[in-house]
Parts: sequence; structure tokens; C-alpha cells
Amino acid sequence: MKQPLLQRKPGPDDAVLWQDDELYLLDQRALPHEERFVHCAHGVDAAKAITDMVVRGAPAIGVTAAYAVVLAARSAWRQAQGNWKTAMQGELELLAGARPTAVNLGWALARMQKLIAGLDQGNPEPLLLQEAKQIHAEDVQANHVLGDLGASLIETKTSVITHCNAGALATGGYGTALGVIRSAWNSGKLERVYADETRPWLQGSRLTAWELVRDGIPVSLLADGAAAARLAAGGIDWVIVGSDRIAANGDVANKIGTYGLALVARAHGVKVMVAAPTSTIDMGCPSGTDIPIETRDGAELLGCAGRPVAAAGAEAWNPVFDVTPAHLVDAIVTEKGIILSPDAKKLAQHMA
Ligand code: MRU
Repeated sequence: MKQPLLQRKPGPDDAVLWQDDELYLLDQRALPHEERFVHCAHGVDAAKAITDMVVRGAPAIGVTAAYAVVLAARSAWRQAQGNWKTAMQGELELLAGARPTAVNLGWALARMQKLIAGLDQGNPEPLLLQEAKQIHAEDVQANHVLGDLGASLIETKTSVITHCNAGALATGGYGTALGVIRSAWNSGKLERVYADETRPWLQGSRLTAWELVRDGIPVSLLADGAAAARLAAGGIDWVIVGSDRIAANGDVANKIGTYGLALVARAHGVKVMVAAPTSTIDMGCPSGTDIPIETRDGAELLGCAGRPVAAAGAEAWNPVFDVTPAHLVDAIVTEKGIILSPDAKKLAQHMA
């Protein structure tokens, strides 16, 4: 595998790295024990990396897809010259089907395809690369804005619970839920982060803890089933999570377990904040029931860290996202502002 010569040790902001005209993805399957990159030479390599969770998290998947379109166009131009648009269709389809729930994937592909439609003669790579870099930079910028906005909702110094990893690793950089957490920490409003371990992929223990420890933000891991007891023990004002797709009525798809966490938060009078860029809002999806939910191989659940743990013969039900209905969400925070008690009317106004 071709490893890039980095100027510095890779950090969470290097999860998606375009360097020397090549795409490298920090292999999130290997973290926190090993920091290695997967080199993607073609669009098909990037599609496989998305499916296999080398890169994960809705905005990071979108940014990766944008760079993958550049790779697909490069190969198509080399092979077919003037016929490049047709030659890259197969790779575009593979990319579109790489993971179903994260709407940022389709959003980024649509934005690249809009540009492609307007291109005529000549090598398309420079303009496509410019657009992919722009998508990447806009995502980082949006996260800083929404991070500060989300932190402004925290009134008094408190601890928070987060679920899965909605950090720099899951985005172009800085993070959504972890963007809010970073901004809250920087403004002295944060006591400690309780991070659900997030079975079966352990995004909480492996990735969120990795990011927060690097930043010096106090983090305690919770077994997923411990969140209710932790909320009952007090000292938590907010649950802060990201999202893979927000429907037009404010229903929120996020990592499996978010719905249960929102229910117990409401039972304990703790508020739920969903931090996401507007590229995660799908106005074409009327409600949560219309969101496609990815089901992955049961083997992910029957084992842990690659080793089997379940009784032989047991089967598994492994949907990897769930839908939290809008009425359990106290605030959706995007780079455009804050939507309190979200509903269809407020979402429509926000996106207008
Ligand atoms: O299966 P994953 O790891 O891709 O799931 C990621 C999540 O559920 C994140 O919370 C979501 O994508 C928001 S990331 C800013």
C-alpha cells in the first residue's frame, strides 16, 4: 500500500487527504492502535473504502465521494478523451450505492454532477478538483460555525453525552457534535464528555475517545446500556449527536442507539442537540420513515474487534442507524442557525 510522506503525524483532520494529486484515507478501522492510510487510485477504490468503513461519518463520506469523482474523471479522460462523461458512469453508480443512509454522499455527487453537466471540451480534472476542494473547505467552515452556535446553547458549565463519532474523523475537519463540544470546551462551558462506546463498531471508544484525548478534553467511556444510569445520576444538561440524514419534518437518522438515548434523555429532562451541516438535511425525504436504513453483516455484532464472541448458532439483527422522531429533538444546529423544537415548517424556513 502506498503510504504518503506526511509533514506531520496524521491527525483527525487528515481523515480525507488529497496530497500530490492523490486521494488517501486514514484507515479508521485500524484506529486508535495504528495510524495508516489507504491509497485510492480510482473511484472504485474510494467506493470500496466507503462501503468497508475505511472512511465513515456522513460528511466525510461526502467529501471522499467528491474527490472520488475527480479520480473517476481522470481515468475516463485518459481512456476515452472526449467520451469521458459516458466512460465514468459506472464508477459514479458504484459511488452512489456505496452506503445508503448518509445523504451527504448523494448530495456531494449531485453537486459534482451539476458541474460535469456544464463542462464541455478539454480535461475536466482541474475544475472538478477545484469543486471537490471547495466542498471539503466548506464542510470544515460549516463545522466551525455550527460548533460555536451549538456551544452558545449551553448555559451553564456541564458534562454532556455523545454517541458514535461525529468528530473531525467523520467530517472534513473539526466535527459536528464534537465541533460543538470543542467550542464549548474552548469557552469554558464543558466539564467532561461521556462517550457511548457505540457497539458494534466502537466508534465511541476507538474514535471519539482518540480525538478527545488528543485535544486534552476529559472523556469517560460508557457502555451503551449505561447512558440511562448516567443521566439519572445528574450533571448532564445536553446529549449532543450528529446525523446521517435529517428528514424535512425534523426526524433524525443517526447511529443505532441514538433513538434510545433521546428517549432516556427526555425521561430525565435532558436536552438533545443534533449538530449537522445543511448538506445533511434532505428536503426530498418527507419523514424518518422514508430514510433508507443500512443493515450490515450480522458478523459485526456476533464478534468484537474482529473476534467472535457470540454463542455459535446465534443470529443477529444489525441495522446500523435508527430514527429519532423530531419531537424528541430540542435543537438542530446547522451553519445557517439554530432550529429549536424542529418541525416541517421550521425546516422549510431554514432551508429556504
Ligand atoms: O456508520 P458510521 O460510523 O458512518 O456512522 C456515523 C454516524 O452515525 C455519525 O454520527 C454521523 O454520520 C454524523 S458524523 C458528523
